[in-house]
Amino acid sequence: MKRHLISAADLTRDDAVLILDTAEEMARVADRPIKKLPTLRGRTVVNLFYEDSTRTRISFEAAAKRLSADVINFSAKGSSVSKGESLKDTALTLEAMGADAVVIRHHTSGAPHRLATSGWINGSVVNAGDGTHEHPTQALLDAFTMRRHLAGAPDGGPTHHRGPGDGTGRDLAGRKVTIVGDVLHSRVARSNVHLLTTLGAEVTLVAPPTLVPIGVEHWPCEVSYDLDAVLPTSDAVMMLRVQRERMNAAFFPTEREYARRYGLHGARMARMPEHAIVMHPGPMNRGMEITAEVADSTRCTAVEQVTNGVSIRMAALYLLLGGNEPAIAAAPPAPARTEETSTP
Ligand code: NCD
Repeated sequence: MKRHLISAADLTRDDAVLILDTAEEMARVADRPIKKLPTLRGRTVVNLFYEDSTRTRISFEAAAKRLSADVINFSAKGSSVSKGESLKDTALTLEAMGADAVVIRHHTSGAPHRLATSGWINGSVVNAGDGTHEHPTQALLDAFTMRRHLAGAPDGGPTHHRGPGDGTGRDLAGRKVTIVGDVLHSRVARSNVHLLTTLGAEVTLVAPPTLVPIGVEHWPCEVSYDLDAVLPTSDAVMMLRVQRERMNAAFFPTEREYARRYGLHGARMARMPEHAIVMHPGPMNRGMEITAEVADSTRCTAVEQVTNGVSIRMAALYLLLGGNEPAIAAAPPAPARTEETSTP
């Protein structure tokens, strides 16, 4: 593993599989009554958030805390950033406080890369979403969710009960993933295209022509404008939020028209194969890209994706910071023998 996690495009297949397999182990910790490991005791993780976030910020916080790290949450709103402080000066402050890892979300594409290569800080940098560029831990948690539902069954049937070491390889090779909606503004789509291709899946993007990025022909995926046509062959359908906060023009006539052509509703979902899942990174615009009926159906993994996000972020922080210590001790340490308890 490299020292930083900036982009899904940087991950080799081995890196990605290592993170996914480590996350499976971390997920087992969540099933214990005490959901905590001592692995990162004494380490400091800073969450540096320049953009609004619910899921990603609390997920990184929960992940770091479950590994016993000290967590400092920094939100640009209400900080000296509103007084004009630069990323550099903020970074130097974090370095002075001894941050071992900085998890950064920024509205500017490339900000995490700048932080990682600037020499301002010595710790690991984790990209928690930069502008319209990348969101690698989201792609990892999406792949983790798909692997749990889809991997390994050549007939495409569900494989919920299979696990690591079961001979299936838990591979996404040949799985068909359809990503639908505002691809132009979506760092989630970019990271997913890179990671899923690395893992052997086949990705199709579906969007109105105005929301397809320039240069998409160089991406390792297909593009379609007809959602109904691709649904019957999809193993997973990932709906994207329409990102109004990043839009500076009218990209479609009306919300109604968008929902009619690119929204997922019950009748459309019925066109998907029985084993296929519906995904959404959140936050959802119910009634726009997804109806409440679909969002609340058992086929929608949105809530499960949040749960899996904690395991993925635990795995990423552990692999970046944890060094050579095993993440999880094979067996709990035997209680120390003391004078009182030892038998003569
Ligand atoms: C995404 C993001 O922030 O890029 N959400 C997330 O991290 N769960 C997608 C979005 O905002 O629509």
